[in-house]
Amino acid sequence: MGALSYGKYLRLKELLACQALESAKAGRPAHDELLFIVTHQAYELWFKQCLHELDAVVAIMGAAFVNERDVGRALHYLERVIRIQGVLLDQIDILETMTPLDFLDFRNLLTPSSGFQSAQFRRLENRLGLERTQRLRYNEADYEAALDAPERRAVGAAEREPSLFDVVEAWLARMPFVRSPEFDFWREYHANVTRMLDEDRDTIERKAQLPEAARRAQLEELERTRETFATVFDPAKYERLRAARQRRLSYPAFLAALMIMLYRDEPILQGPFRLLMALVEIDENLSLWRYRHALMVHRMIGMKIGTGGSSGQDYLRRTVEAHRVFLDFFNLSTYLIPRSLLPALPAEVREQLGFRWNA
Ligand code: HEM
Repeated sequence: MGALSYGKYLRLKELLACQALESAKAGRPAHDELLFIVTHQAYELWFKQCLHELDAVVAIMGAAFVNERDVGRALHYLERVIRIQGVLLDQIDILETMTPLDFLDFRNLLTPSSGFQSAQFRRLENRLGLERTQRLRYNEADYEAALDAPERRAVGAAEREPSLFDVVEAWLARMPFVRSPEFDFWREYHANVTRMLDEDRDTIERKAQLPEAARRAQLEELERTRETFATVFDPAKYERLRAARQRRLSYPAFLAALMIMLYRDEPILQGPFRLLMALVEIDENLSLWRYRHALMVHRMIGMKIGTGGSSGQDYLRRTVEAHRVFLDFFNLSTYLIPRSLLPALPAEVREQLGFRWNA
């Protein structure tokens, strides 16, 4: 056996024997195929690490009671995922040093395999909370049809388990402070929103040089904003948005998330605020990766169909918008009002949300 060494610990003999060039097997080794394989393998290793982090975050946030200390740990793991996503994006720059002509030296040998068959990528999407109903269909079939049978089972299981979206939603829905006997936050917020929108209406009506048609258009736009705000105060209106799939969070979770966004300067709400922002960043980074990947595909294969048989970059571009998970947290910005209009918290509530030893 011998003492542990660098190579033994990392199983480098096995790892470095995993780059088998299809072009070499065909008797025409293509210089860039090694880069292509190494890049994909590096992605899969990072996917594995991201799944490890997300599993831990789901376990922490999925507990019946989430201690504040644990939120910090979940956040720490999510921040690691964000850093890894930065590397995943940068790897595209490296792969793009391969030119389309060099890719053609071995591309046809890869058919019918495709990144579309990455089971870990699908598990990542499911772990985050991408819903089956959101998914664009591929070659008229469900996404898992392209996977090998054992992987299909693992990916299907991941789809049935609670996702990061599910556990964060349940945690938000349990948040205290959203309604308190001492302070009806939502009534005061409603009054201030109405005041803000009324002031906006007065400004539009007073603009001297504004042509009548433009004034009408601006007033109509303002009414639409008022309607959007109305969904905050009226659960039935909010549920209509959910039914139309324009919102996904439950109403109580939505109110808690909005409160966190508005009062995030209060010490207790800092952790939850940063957690929501981390989810926004992960979603944004995934969208950026999807878009960069689609552009790379366009650059490499033009308008040809993918080796997996889909309409290549056209399908990939559409996933950028269709496959977002934490859209509701982006949409919260719609309902923010300036700090100057924020209802002041009563002393008792402020104390509960503050540091124990405030100056
Ligand atoms: C020359 C570079 C690449 C080309 C030309 C390419 C091409 C494509 C194409 C055309 C698709 C659509 C499915 C199909 O018909 O095959 C696809 C999907 C995919 N590729 Fe790539 N790809 C490249 C690099 C990569 C890399 C480095 C990864 C990293 C793992 C990757 C991961 C994926 C994934 C996960 C999908 C499924 C995306 C989804 O369904 O949302 N690809 N690729």
